[in-house]
Amino acid sequence: MNLFRGNPQKRSEKIRRQYERHKKVRGLIKKHADDILHSANFNSTNKHLQHGSVTVHKHCMDVARYSLLFNKKLGIGCNKYDLIRGALLHDYFLYDWHDKDYLPHRKRFHGFFHPGVALKNAEKEYRLTDRQREIIRKHMWPLTVMPPTCREAWVVTAADKYCSLMETLGLHRGHGAAV
Ligand SMILES: [Fe+2]
Ligand SMILES: [Fe+2]
Repeated sequence: MNLFRGNPQKRSEKIRRQYERHKKVRGLIKKHADDILHSANFNSTNKHLQHGSVTVHKHCMDVARYSLLFNKKLGIGCNKYDLIRGALLHDYFLYDWHDKDYLPHRKRFHGFFHPGVALKNAEKEYRLTDRQREIIRKHMWPLTVMPPTCREAWVVTAADKYCSLMETLGLHRGHGAAV
């Protein structure tokens, strides 16, 4: 199989553009949420699996990236500060929902429970805006029944579902939980 099909110049240009895009997104996330990225609790989510081999940490970083991407591609005009911080904190429940012995009832009802737990944890550490609260509280819609009331929450809800599906299908992979 030829791994280097096509014009090599075009290919390296594509890789360069991709790298520049990723660098820009990383820079935006750092600009708006450096405190979250460096917090002990946020980094502890590297120990918890979300779906497949993807940790909660990687999942939240991916949701923030895809939220920015959807916002840009669709020209939605979200507030980026709220979008990024809400996306990073949307699953801030800080336990391993796969751990049956630890929290058997939470495993079964995790989908319903965890937005409230995440919101409570995030409120303890950060000064949240109304939009960020809405993102965290409603990201499991339609399980939440009440739909999101701001565009940022809709975008994170969509990015979360997209990332969760990719993780479940094994199309987004991680390195497993750090122990
Ligand atoms: Fe969630
Ligand atoms: Fe999520």
